[in-house]
Amino acid sequence: MIVLKPNKALVTGIPREINGTIEVPGDKSISHRAIMLGSLAAGVSKIDNLSLSRDNLATVSAFKKLGVVINRVKPNENNKNSKKFVINGAGLHGLKEPKTIINTANSGTLTRLITGILAGGDFFSVLSGDKYLNSRPMKRIIEPLILMGAKIIGRENGNYPPVAINGGKLKSIYYEMPIPSAQVKSCIMLAALFAEGNTVIYEKKATRDHTENFLKLQGCPITVINIKPAENLIAITGGSELNPFEITVPGDFSSAAFFIALGLLRKNSEIIIKNVLLNEKRTGLLKALKMMGADMEITVEDEKLEKVGTIKARYSNLKGVAVPPELVSDMIDEFPIFAVIASFANGITLVSEAGELRVKESDRIKTIVANLSLFGIKIKELEDGFEITGNPGLIFEENSVKLDNKDFVVLDSFGDHRIAMSMIIMGLLLKNRETEVRDIRCISTSFPEFFDTVLKLIK
Ligand code: S3P
Repeated sequence: MIVLKPNKALVTGIPREINGTIEVPGDKSISHRAIMLGSLAAGVSKIDNLSLSRDNLATVSAFKKLGVVINRVKPNENNKNSKKFVINGAGLHGLKEPKTIINTANSGTLTRLITGILAGGDFFSVLSGDKYLNSRPMKRIIEPLILMGAKIIGRENGNYPPVAINGGKLKSIYYEMPIPSAQVKSCIMLAALFAEGNTVIYEKKATRDHTENFLKLQGCPITVINIKPAENLIAITGGSELNPFEITVPGDFSSAAFFIALGLLRKNSEIIIKNVLLNEKRTGLLKALKMMGADMEITVEDEKLEKVGTIKARYSNLKGVAVPPELVSDMIDEFPIFAVIASFANGITLVSEAGELRVKESDRIKTIVANLSLFGIKIKELEDGFEITGNPGLIFEENSVKLDNKDFVVLDSFGDHRIAMSMIIMGLLLKNRETEVRDIRCISTSFPEFFDTVLKLIK
């Protein structure tokens, strides 16, 4: 059960099974790209089911500040909570110099992707976000952009925001991705739209391909060559205008993951999530869970812009696994909730080669370990991951074992939305315990409808 207080949630275990069908709001990564690429298109784009998360609204504000006309279709009787947006694309060279700093809020995706676009504009701009965002590394995008001829500086020798960009002419490059990062890749791809000639990016480990999918839809001269299953060469010829589009954003798999966890862990439960994104570069969690023995049914129903379908997650007896390192980037945003799931699995779960978790909205290795330890979970911090010894007996049901004598646990989200939501799910599953999760405002960074969705299921 959940009681909401100002900026905190009091959570106790759910005393019965959970059965229900839900939908989750539009995908955050796709929503960012829809706003950006709709803004650059030559014509009017229509987007339905756009995520109304704080991160995505920051992207809408950023492009409005750059002179793009973006309107939300007014809610009416049939559509009370309209998530339809119309963007009057400015064309590739139609953005205007912003008069003030662009606030990128908590969003790494907005900051890194828009930098690629601004580098190719013919004006000056400055980006700055909240204290968490301004502590996230930017050298990873500034280095390749400088190779393309961009003029960019940032705090601490270009490593952190605020970032100042003097847009101008760009040249094409060949770039081997030093880390698997869709944000870095997308930043270079967006800059490539403005560069002269062919930019080629080599990904040793393929990452989410939403930018590629949009650019193909928009008639951009882009070629993706799949060298090996997870190895890609992406070539983009700069200079051509992008077509506008009409799309419906699929439900966010990263938001769905919290409910997959509830369905798998709470005895006799089944949760169905409809219209959810099933892009393989996003759903590594499903593969890891299958290895753990999860009873899930996945049905693909649409494949136009992206794979979309239904996930059914039923209560399962899970066993610990060593997560194959090749799955890490396909489930990079799901490790906080994965750690919760592993806490209830039989035996040891090992996550390694996941050092990128240290530079997310929080140092997620530290924040996962700190919070799960407070619950009394056996978890070891590793340089590039963590190891959990799970215990299925902790789940709220008859004969559950008691964790320890501490009945009241107070946790901090560390300003990280996915940590906050994962800990609330943990609190909903545990017996003999009241959990207070503090600093939960951050949840609206990605999923303002989180509590409504949880309460709909457990009412
Ligand atoms: C994202 C890419 C990932 C992910 C982030 C969203 C994107 O970041 O963690 O939440 O939309 O491109 P990295 O590129 O840093 O891996």
